[in-house]
Amino acid sequence: MPSDDDHDPSAPLAELNQATKIYRGGMLAKNATVALDHVSLTIRGDTPQVVAVVGESGSGKSTLASLLLGFISPTEGTVRFQGRDIASLRGADLGRFRREVQAVFQDPFSVFNPFYKVDHVLTVPIQKFRLARSTAQRQELMVTALEAVGLRPDETLGRYPHQLSGGQRQRVIVARALMLKPKLIIADEPVSMVDASLRATILESLRTVNRTLKVPILYITHDLGTAYHVSDHIVVMYRGSIVEAGAVETVIESPKHPYTRLLIDSIPWPDPKQPWGEHRATAQATLEVPEHHPGCRFADRCAFAEQHCLESPPPHYLTAPAHSARCYLYRDHPEVSDEAFRTLLTLPP
Ligand SMILES: Nc1ncnc2c1ncn2[C@@H]1O[C@H](COP(=O)(O)OP(=O)(O)O)[C@@H](O)[C@H]1O
Ligand code: SF4
Ligand SMILES: [Mg+2]
Repeated sequence: MPSDDDHDPSAPLAELNQATKIYRGGMLAKNATVALDHVSLTIRGDTPQVVAVVGESGSGKSTLASLLLGFISPTEGTVRFQGRDIASLRGADLGRFRREVQAVFQDPFSVFNPFYKVDHVLTVPIQKFRLARSTAQRQELMVTALEAVGLRPDETLGRYPHQLSGGQRQRVIVARALMLKPKLIIADEPVSMVDASLRATILESLRTVNRTLKVPILYITHDLGTAYHVSDHIVVMYRGSIVEAGAVETVIESPKHPYTRLLIDSIPWPDPKQPWGEHRATAQATLEVPEHHPGCRFADRCAFAEQHCLESPPPHYLTAPAHSARCYLYRDHPEVSDEAFRTLLTLPP
């Protein structure tokens, strides 16, 4: 077993192992929010994929992103990068981690200082991480990164942030992430604040980065429609837990968990102007469900709930070779152990 001080080359790139995050509102335990509940997830570096994490607002997606970025630590469980517990990283190792795991967030405007030209957001990391030795080298780095995300450097550099569209600004942020040669990009709702007409180009640039530069991407979204278009695998979250996971086509075309089915039914697929996330998927619950019970957290909204669903949380069941659902409707299928669940998501789609 490697100790936390060794870099383990055979370890997956990033992984959450039974990670739980509880936010405490104050001294009183009743104010605690379980934002993430024993979540395990592996992201491989050797078969770089786009893994989408989808779920309604409040399902724990940004908490998962913040854990992987090392912004917060888990209340229980571990978060590892290249086999090492992120919480143990210090000094130069922490610096390298900060460079190798890059984030793209929702609001591209907040990253820019309106008084500086766009170049500024690119030159700052170049200086900070000493990526260039000369002005020419610095220029070349910026130009290559901008071109990789489909921007024309001559139309981008030298401009002020307000002179670019929201879509162009967000692509500058993707370019900035790229300059650092990241091993992982975590994009948390990168298109939810840009105009619908510009979303495709940003997502396309992420997809290109994934394909050509072989960088795995965790694409976090409340929008199942875009997840379907850009990702290889999909993880569906509900109230802090993964309820369904698998290859994107299988999950979207043949959803198993009642929650995923509701989500898919509530997408007005042919009309891209109506984003799915603004509806709350609802179904007629059939069972009288007490407020507190140890069972399935979806039971109060589930049309298929039965008494046994309230007794203990369902495990993941393997419903197809690379597809699992955490629901007792599939209890005649094999149960998926935590270890097997992590492998399942890393299979090539
Ligand atoms: N810093 C925080 N303090 C307290 N509660 C939080 C904090 N951040 C998130 N939460 C709560 O944790 C849950 C999950 O939030 P979040 O991870 O932001 O979900 P999502 O990104 O899916 O909308 C929500 O109930 C949210 O209110
Ligand atoms: S375990 Fe029971 S309550 Fe939960 S989603 Fe499945 S059928 Fe519904
Ligand atoms: Mg969020």
